[in-house]
Amino acid sequence: METSHDVLVVGAGCAGMRAAIEAHDAGAEVALVSKLHPTRSHSGAARGGINAALGNAGADSPDQHAADTVKGSDYLGDQDAIELFCAEAPGDIYQLERWGALFDRDAEGRLAQRPFGGAGVSRTVHAADVTGHVLLQLLYEQLLARGIRVYEEYFAWRLVVGDGGCQGVLAWDLARGGVKALAAKAVILATGGSGRVYHGSTNAHACTADGMAMALRAGLPLEDLEFVQFHPTTLFPSGLLVTEAVRGEGGLLLNSEGERFMSRYAPEAMELASRDVVSRGEQTEIDEGRSVDGALLLDMRHFGREKMLERFHGTRDLALTYARLDPLERPLPVRPGAHYHMGGVATDVDGRTEIANVFAAGEVACVSLHGANRLGGNSLMETIVFGRRAGRAAAEQALGTSGSRELEPSARSGDEREIAKLLERREGERPKAIRDELGASMHENFGVFREERRMHRQLELLEDLRERYQRVLVEDKGTVWNSDLTQALELGFQLDLAVCMVSAGLERRESRGAHARPDDYPERDDQNFLKHSLVRWSNDWLDLSWKPVTITKWQPQRRTY
Ligand code: FUM
Repeated sequence: METSHDVLVVGAGCAGMRAAIEAHDAGAEVALVSKLHPTRSHSGAARGGINAALGNAGADSPDQHAADTVKGSDYLGDQDAIELFCAEAPGDIYQLERWGALFDRDAEGRLAQRPFGGAGVSRTVHAADVTGHVLLQLLYEQLLARGIRVYEEYFAWRLVVGDGGCQGVLAWDLARGGVKALAAKAVILATGGSGRVYHGSTNAHACTADGMAMALRAGLPLEDLEFVQFHPTTLFPSGLLVTEAVRGEGGLLLNSEGERFMSRYAPEAMELASRDVVSRGEQTEIDEGRSVDGALLLDMRHFGREKMLERFHGTRDLALTYARLDPLERPLPVRPGAHYHMGGVATDVDGRTEIANVFAAGEVACVSLHGANRLGGNSLMETIVFGRRAGRAAAEQALGTSGSRELEPSARSGDEREIAKLLERREGERPKAIRDELGASMHENFGVFREERRMHRQLELLEDLRERYQRVLVEDKGTVWNSDLTQALELGFQLDLAVCMVSAGLERRESRGAHARPDDYPERDDQNFLKHSLVRWSNDWLDLSWKPVTITKWQPQRRTY
């Protein structure tokens, strides 16, 4: 089967759906392809809220939002992109509200806003502690209202690029089996992040770096891959996210001695410093022996039943189900866990990449809005602002392209052969052991703190894992719902990406945002590293280069909270 569309969006989380809606409204014929049903996408895990300078809970402005984001990024974010984002965010919030988003309200009936880390004012619009889920439902309704087609449970795994640019995408049909060719005049990658490269992660099992690896293999550069955000409060031991909104609304972080240890690391902002700062504080407490069995304690007992049930029912449910603890009675054990990739496919503010008809938006992309560290609440907003902009630009690109697109038959037959070869293999190693070693070693050697020797060690390990991956064994030989097969393909994506991440990390010889090297390069080095890393993969060779950061009006300063 081959089908053809004006715009094909890969991924159906908030960024993908918002992009598809905009491309449709701009007059293009649009489809989405997703390995999950849209409302099961990982955007649902962004629970605490979405940032926009509405000024409903104290004086605020897009300029103040931008200043906080620049500081949060440790001055690596591109300031033109940040200013545009902060200026457009309020309009997008009102549009979501008009579409029916069930945001909470304050006593005067305006959209309520709560404090989040790294922000000087209460800026985060919310729907209790399930904001991402509310937005997924809302955007899905908008897709249905427009009759936009979703190729649901199709696993996209190859961008087909020829002389005239991208021809479309090859996907594996999970429910029926078989390679499906989806041609398009423009493709938008909106596949989310790579968190499952790590063992302890807030990310859904679906977050396996698919779009980043597909872009890399198509010759596109990936930007700032060394910057991985560790969220300070992931439930121990499952790694599920406990929203930052808990700290925003007064939750306390305590060590084994009952001390609010953040006073050592961020005396003013305390628990509401930027995520990189809080995670480093926690990791230091753990490393220096002041944890409770490897975890810190998040205390929300003082919230009381009414506030807990009104604003944190989702968090309480998670704690009861996965830790068998009631946060009304006991503090929750938490620790830093991999949460968000600041790096991704290099794009401009309209999602354009180096290939004219390939776009990217959301976590898979690097605009660069977040630089070296993202502020909580900026990612849901990013999916909406940059999803919308990429959708519009892709529609314009497609509508300006005459004729229809087709995929070169050789691309499809090559992929069919590759999958057949994988299924025919009778001996080898199953993906699980390789995946487990990848996840554990990335934590060990490329976690909250990094250091030259460990990063070299990690690259050696990755070389070994990639070698073993050449003989990966898919035991299930069937074609229908063969998750053994798709997990093997996902593992290939993750291994490619991990090599790029650690290689970029080694070359960045400084400490900035989430890239902390306290033992060998403890200081930020603006003289040599106020620049973005770019990684390409050509002829099985990794090429690393740099590009400048755009500064408009905020000169780098010492960053304290
Ligand atoms: O903590 C949270 O609610 C996560 C939000 C985010 O990552 O933006």
